[in-house]
Amino acid sequence: MLVAATLLLCQLFMLLCPVSAGFYGPDTAVINLTPTTFKSEIYDTNYTSVVEFYAEWCGHCKNLRPQYTKAAKSLKGVAKVAAVRCDDESNQPLCARYNVRGYPTLKVFRPNVRVPSSPFIEDYEGGRTAKSIVDTVLAKISNKVRRLKAEEVQPWIDESNVPKVLLFHKDANAPPMYKGLAIDYAGTANFGIIRKSEIEASKEYAVTKFPAIVIIITDDDGEHRHIYSGELKKEPLYEYLSGFATPVEGARAPKKPKKAKKASKPLQHEEL
Ligand SMILES: *[C@@H]1O[C@H](CO)[C@@H](O)[C@H](O)[C@H]1NC(C)=O
Repeated sequence: MLVAATLLLCQLFMLLCPVSAGFYGPDTAVINLTPTTFKSEIYDTNYTSVVEFYAEWCGHCKNLRPQYTKAAKSLKGVAKVAAVRCDDESNQPLCARYNVRGYPTLKVFRPNVRVPSSPFIEDYEGGRTAKSIVDTVLAKISNKVRRLKAEEVQPWIDESNVPKVLLFHKDANAPPMYKGLAIDYAGTANFGIIRKSEIEASKEYAVTKFPAIVIIITDDDGEHRHIYSGELKKEPLYEYLSGFATPVEGARAPKKPKKAKKASKPLQHEEL
């Protein structure tokens, strides 16, 4: 009885039901898009996105699902991996607008640096594996990280007032997560990379191990350097940098800690 009642409730309120929580559930990194969120997620961003248009009943979509979920996980914080469920009537206008004729259809949206909110849209024709998807998308992400030689560091620091983030790295290619950070802080912090062989510069910055990250702040008192000593992962770095600059994107981080602080304050006052 209870089971039947629960199932009925599930059918009535599909969103509340774990069984039909969706093709890409909240435990995945796939962003489920709707006509209301499509523009802000995919157009108003400096991130490159891949969007899958699918139907729940479609066999090829089911086959792709684990690969797509895997791609989303490895591209987290670097590019957006999103999906539109076309057998949901409310999404039909989206699937029609993008001329979706078969499932799954994958499209890559690459930001247009010159014209904001006007991405280049391409059909994804690559293999239907996580690796193919990840490689294709990685090749199309915006690079806002400046490659610097030792003698270019100081002019780069002097050229603007925003905080500078400088990565000392074994080679000159910025890791994808670092490119993602540069996107999150576009316009509010400048990102650079300098390779290990440019050792002179690293001596100047008291860097002894690679990789290392130095944040350089210029104010009326001159230049201040902070060496980031945490894990070289995106989330802790994103947090750390938010003490120096305001992120413009990537604010998917849970806002729970703030709430918790608020809640605990009155208690502390009571104790005092
Ligand atoms: C995109 O990047 C530019 C700087 O390159 C920045 O001014 C703009 O605010 C960014 N847009 C978004 C939506 O983050």
